[in-house]
Amino acid sequence: MNQDFETLLLSTDENGICTLTINRPDKLNSLNNKVFDELDSAVKVIKDDLKIKAVVITGAGEKAFVAGADIKELSSLDPASGERVSKKGQQVFQKIENLTIPVIAAVNGYALGGGCELALACHLRIASDNAALGLPEVSLGLIPGYGGTQRLTQAIGRAKALECIMTGRQIKADEAFEIGLVNQVVEGNPVEEAKAMLHKILKQGPIAIKNAILAVQEAGSEEGFDNEAKLFGELCGTADFKEGTTAFLEKRKPNFSGK
Ligand code: COA
Repeated sequence: MNQDFETLLLSTDENGICTLTINRPDKLNSLNNKVFDELDSAVKVIKDDLKIKAVVITGAGEKAFVAGADIKELSSLDPASGERVSKKGQQVFQKIENLTIPVIAAVNGYALGGGCELALACHLRIASDNAALGLPEVSLGLIPGYGGTQRLTQAIGRAKALECIMTGRQIKADEAFEIGLVNQVVEGNPVEEAKAMLHKILKQGPIAIKNAILAVQEAGSEEGFDNEAKLFGELCGTADFKEGTTAFLEKRKPNFSGK
């Protein structure tokens, strides 16, 4: 599958892994309005294409995943348009987080501001050893507005998140791994490692993976435990559950049908 976008590249391999590349390398893949509109459309394309089983999001070029929101566009915002832009960014990133197939950010360089927020909206993050993440919005007189204050806090805890947001400092890959901001650090380009992790995930029962994403998303909410039990119970009625347990008892590998 290949879709024509101006600021994105979308391609799906024979295993159903779709690579979505933010493609504005001369501006370090910064997120302008066009990128947000196209990301919104791309998520719809991904949702509607049943051949797509997983997604890797990355940035074009050697230097950056995404170096933030487009500061040129930000500079003309007023209170009303600022709130609208923040809400729109939040909504697009929410749609990425709400995908029920696994989504990995392959962080191949700078992931600052909106870039860090995009990586945080993905289910997992794998970074190159030269990556630098951070939320430097205070240096522009702003705060993160695409969900970063919420997701960074969930990812690394309140005090650490507030420190990162208030200093706006860059967090190098090794520290990002230590504080749980990224799952893994690799030498060179992280896309292949992301695909390798997805291969392992895609060997598991697909409905179980979907329900795992849904259950973890509710973590910390009042309904989290009830929701977990509901999703667990639902899985007990699937053919994949029968196959998984039978395969274990018969000492063989399971052959999941996704039903
Ligand atoms: N918005 C708009 N343009 C951006 C951008 C952003 N967030 N980040 C980088 N660019 C552009 C630069 O203006 C430059 O364009 P030009 O060649 O037309 O002048 C080009 O991308 C290359 O960036 P440059 O700053 O020259 O690269 P560098 O290697 O010297 O520095 C960074 C890299 C990431 C440290 C630096 O670009 C930066 O600080 N970017 C902004 C990060 C930020 O504050 N993001 C949060 C926004 S909410």
